[in-house]
This record gives sequence, C-alpha cells and structure tokens, in this order.
Amino acid sequence: MTNLVVRQIPFDFEGAEFIWNPSNPAFAVMMNAITFQSIGFEKYICKTMNAAEKLARDSAITEEIRAFNAQEMVHSQAHRKHAKALIEAYPGLKDLLDFCIADYDRLYEERDLRYHLSYCANIEATFTPLFGSIIEHRDVLFAGGDPRISSLFLWHFVEEMEHRASAHLIYDNIVRNPFTRLFKMRSVFGHTRKLAAKVYEAFHEHVPESRPYGLGDGVKAIPKPALKKMRNGIIGSQMPWHRPGSAQVPAYYGEWFARYESGEDMRTAYAA
Ligand SMILES: [Fe+2]
Ligand SMILES: [Fe+2]
Repeated sequence: MTNLVVRQIPFDFEGAEFIWNPSNPAFAVMMNAITFQSIGFEKYICKTMNAAEKLARDSAITEEIRAFNAQEMVHSQAHRKHAKALIEAYPGLKDLLDFCIADYDRLYEERDLRYHLSYCANIEATFTPLFGSIIEHRDVLFAGGDPRISSLFLWHFVEEMEHRASAHLIYDNIVRNPFTRLFKMRSVFGHTRKLAAKVYEAFHEHVPESRPYGLGDGVKAIPKPALKKMRNGIIGSQMPWHRPGSAQVPAYYGEWFARYESGEDMRTAYAA
C-alpha cells in the first residue's frame, strides 16, 4: 500500500521577479529552468503512468501509479503558475513553454513504454541526491529570495523524495530488467541536457538579466566536497542495484512534513 499524500498548496506567484533571489541569481535562473522543464516532464510522466496502469501486475502497483501520478500533476499545476508569472514579465518565454511540452510529447510518440519507464526511473532516482544537496545548502541557495518561490521548490523537492521509490517500483513491476534502464541512460540524460541547454538559450534570448548565468552555474555556491558527494550520488543512483527507497534524505525532509502536519502555511515555509 502506498503512503503518498497529495497536498494541494494554493501558491500564488503574481508579480514574481525572474531573478527572484538577488543573493544568488545563478540559482534563481536554474530553478526557473526547472519550472519550464518540469511542466513538460510531469506531463510526460502522467502519460507514461496512464499507459503503465494497464500493464500493472498487482493492485499495489496500480495504487502506486495513481498516487505518483497525482503528486506529479499537482507539481505541474504549481509550476504552471510560476511559469505564467515569468511569461507575463517576458512574453517571449511562452514559446519556450510550448517547446518544452512539445518536446516531451514528441519523445512520447517516438519511443516505447519501456523507454518511458526507464526515463522516469532514471531521472527520478537522481532527485534525492540532487535535491537533497540543494536542501542541505538552502542557506546559500534560497536565503534572500522570494519566499513564495523558495517554498515552491522546497515543497516540490521534499515530495520528490517522498515518492523517490515510486518510479523504480513501477519500472521493476513492468519492465522487470534493471539493465534496460542502464542501457537507455545515455539517451535519457542526453535528452534532458539538450532540453536544459535550449531553456537557457531561450532565457538568454528573452531575459537580459539571465545572460551572465549558464547551465551548471546554479549550484556553484555549494561547497566543492558536497558537490562531489552530490555527483557521486547521482552516478550511484543509476546503477542497476540502486534502491532509491533507501537513499538518504536530509533532516529538513522530516521538518517540512512536521510543519505541514501542524497546519503551518507552507506557501511561505522558507522565509529566511
Ligand atoms: Fe514532481
Ligand atoms: Fe517525481
């Protein structure tokens, strides 16, 4: 039985700045890129999961698919609101959003379900080491930023950790061969990297303030040993024997859920 919870948090990003964290503009740009990519990726996940549901081998997996899907849909809705605020300020970014969605739609048409399940399992497995490291270093990444945007990403990142085992469980139940995703790794990461480069290119074209910041600059404020640990974690997450459910999560993970449970307004959870 899955224990995933769908949390509707009524975020509002009206008037949000593109450089929403003047203390760390490179990170602000990276998170904006995640907003644009996430909307396409999460739609792709939902299509993949709808197709996977028909092949699920037991009811526990069907339940996992539905809960995973539901969380991702809610993430996507929140990121659409964020993207809307950015597009209002820079209308040229509307085409970028359309491009991200169309790019994932095209990928969905071109490949088969085994590929899509590999894609979801591979990418989702990187999130615990990547977002865990971001959360651990939130003082140098989020501090000084618009609390609404910081809180959007912290919520999304803790929920990514909450469902960190889902894509793998579903993959294992249907594909049943851990090497399939290993063989597709190059193609999967090639796709996300290429799309990220495209997102930055569009930012640079339409948003002059984004021009000094390139792909990969966003996490530069994280100390080097921690970055190395993060990169090793990401590589380890791709190994056929990796079990994302046992991946370590930061202490903030428990804190966020405890604060949510206590009824705190998580739209501004990060106000430092
Ligand atoms: Fe998500
Ligand atoms: Fe996810």
